[in-house]
Amino acid sequence: MKARIAWLPGDGVGPEVLREARRVLDVIAGEHNHEFEYVEADIGGVAIERHGEPLPKASQDVCLTSDAVFLGAVGDPRFDHLPPGKKCENGLLDLRKLLGNYANLRPVSVFEALVDSSPLRRDSVRGVDLMIVRELLGGIYFGSPRGLDETQAFNTEIYTRDEIQRIARVAFKLARHRRRRVTSVDKANVLEASVLWRQTCGEVAKQFPDIAFQNMYVDNCAMQLIAKPAQFDVILTNNMFGDILSDEASMLAGSLGLLPSASIGGKIGLYEPVHGSAPDIAGKGIANPLGAISSAALLLEHSLELPREATKLERAIVKVLSRGYRTPDLKSRAGREKSKERIVSTKEMGELVCDYIRMPDAT
Ligand code: NAD
Ligand code: IPM
Ligand code: MN
Repeated sequence: MKARIAWLPGDGVGPEVLREARRVLDVIAGEHNHEFEYVEADIGGVAIERHGEPLPKASQDVCLTSDAVFLGAVGDPRFDHLPPGKKCENGLLDLRKLLGNYANLRPVSVFEALVDSSPLRRDSVRGVDLMIVRELLGGIYFGSPRGLDETQAFNTEIYTRDEIQRIARVAFKLARHRRRRVTSVDKANVLEASVLWRQTCGEVAKQFPDIAFQNMYVDNCAMQLIAKPAQFDVILTNNMFGDILSDEASMLAGSLGLLPSASIGGKIGLYEPVHGSAPDIAGKGIANPLGAISSAALLLEHSLELPREATKLERAIVKVLSRGYRTPDLKSRAGREKSKERIVSTKEMGELVCDYIRMPDAT
């Protein structure tokens, strides 16, 4: 098949990890006779630098005329002083809005080879396989009024029934292909927006009697993710809580650098690792590219409808990790895996995944 992919490396480690995702997509294309065209565009700090705004019209046009959008990361400390609305991060928020992608899927699965890379005990993280379904276009991120002056600042957490219903349906439908359990996470004991959230999710749950459903307060969920993470299948939550809980959940797997995401719901899917531009490690060649590479698998699955290729890619990642290859963030604390570990660079990790895709038994 032919596909046109908008390619937005962005800032910091974004270009470094996207280079490896591209390497992997090229191998997949070569092996399966697909033709992927990548159209590069600027977003975030690099776009502010070159065009004076974080999501220039030209980048918007590239995205809107592609089959899928792939993004590295945005965020550059040099532009942190810019006013709200003009920052690097607004490029990403505006892009999500432009594409209408209200559902952000953030799968967290613990690779058997990495059970000692998590700071948690191996028996509590082993087998964890959960999916955070984060509402992406509403809540406090986008609510108005909002404002900031010298003496006060405010934001508005706002959700409509329709917005809650549509994200809840995504979560319940997904659960049907998984372990049939949805946990809706809110703060309904304090926030009105969460009261409506809880009520609406409860109503949607009734339309899915085959799915086990429960509500949980977000503070408790933050604790349960550490105490008993294997209890979760699908976590359904709002924009803000989903942002925070996904970074927390990444440490079950061992590193934030591992987590991929797919933002769907609009016509054109957006794929990006969960992590940011990581200015502390940018330019050193040590960033973990697996979150970006796994996001490429999500792109193959959701936007290009190539599930076989997606599975092949995911299996290659499992193999590379089980052979002991690790970027520095995955160094295990202790345990049996430690002696097998081989520390590799961002580029070597990308190349290894390619090697394992090419192996005949990798299908
Ligand atoms: P971050 O996600 O960039 O980094 C947090 C920590 O995780 C850092 O210690 C970093 O070194 C580490 N890390 C992140 N990605 C890694 C990878 N691939 N491999 C190994 N280690 C990795 O979060 P931050 O430091 O709070 O934010 C930095 C900038 O990124 C900010 O400007 C922020 O707004 C932006 N940000 C962007 C996105 C995005 O583009 N989706 C997401 C989060 C943060
Ligand atoms: C993420 C990021 C973004 C968010 C920022 C950079 C706007 O943290 O994708 O998780 O908060 O959604
Ligand atoms: Mn985040």
